[in-house]
Amino acid sequence: MIRRPIGNSRPLNAIGLGCMGISFAYGPAMEDADAVSLLHQALDLGVDHYDTAEMYGFGDSEQKIGKAFHDRREQVFIATKFGPVYNRETGQRAGVDGSEKNARRAIEQSLNFLQTDHIDLWYLHRRDFTRPIEETVGAMADIVKEGKVRQIGLSEVTAETLRAAAKVHPIAAVQSEFSIFTRFVEEGGILEACRELGTTLVAYSPLGRGMLAGWSKDWKADGWDFRATMAPRFQGEALANNLALVEEIARVASDLNATAGQVALAWVLQRADNIVTIPGTTKVANLKQNLDAADVTLTPGAIAKLDGLAAKVEGERYDETGMKGVNG
Ligand code: ATR
Repeated sequence: MIRRPIGNSRPLNAIGLGCMGISFAYGPAMEDADAVSLLHQALDLGVDHYDTAEMYGFGDSEQKIGKAFHDRREQVFIATKFGPVYNRETGQRAGVDGSEKNARRAIEQSLNFLQTDHIDLWYLHRRDFTRPIEETVGAMADIVKEGKVRQIGLSEVTAETLRAAAKVHPIAAVQSEFSIFTRFVEEGGILEACRELGTTLVAYSPLGRGMLAGWSKDWKADGWDFRATMAPRFQGEALANNLALVEEIARVASDLNATAGQVALAWVLQRADNIVTIPGTTKVANLKQNLDAADVTLTPGAIAKLDGLAAKVEGERYDETGMKGVNG
């Protein structure tokens, strides 16, 4: 197991658990009892960092985590997020609200759903472009002073936004998509700014939303799936192109006696020691496989092969609306 702190936290398992998929995005929500069982087994296997958000199933993911961990709160580091707002009747997204009023509403709801009196890491999920970042981070910092939140994070922000925010309050973490296929945090100076500021990069979708775990060429969505509807790189010719690249990862993996998914996770963790990652899964077998990635060491030759793939990926990671919310 690799242990790394997030901001000034105690050292945590660098492979945490992303808890979006238990409620939303890649299929129907898990039954509560199944999710609680998965979360308990994850804790037994040494996972101590759980990442959720108000948005994931509109509170369902937070509630599942609350049910699993309310009686073992001190063993887990819980991260959640606020910002995007939605119409409660239709479930439709209605922009991002980084106001103090919304921050205060959201924190009370998250504490309630998570059945706790504090959040270990509280992120702004997406930047509110209608107000300065300093205003939102200032509101979050007041909530830290009140003891409801231990540390603050930002998600999908630019290096410039991170630097401005860090002048108001220490930023423990930036959470952005980062994987063999998605490397803008390196190109945009974000990883470098994190290093300078003592900020941990929390890499989400390290398995490329599942694809890098070695999907076959005939992958198809089963029912409503975020990937097939809202992510161009999972559609049409782009998908075929990208799945051919996944075969390269599988070849590297087979040389190392590992799985493609393990190689994808090892690649993320070996980029820098201020990175942790949060692959998501609904299955204990996949979780175990992901945790074993900590024991996979990539050779320089393997890294060189993997480093060449991102430039060949086709299709954006979000649709046009989604892309407007990132690089905030
Ligand atoms: P996200 O951050 O959005 O959760 P991710 O971690 O890159 O994205 O990938 C999550 C996807 O990878 C899920 O569809 C998950 O499916 P299961 O719930 O069926 O596991 C899939 N996944 C996770 N670990 C996997 C593994 N070891 N083998 C195959 N698929 C895996």
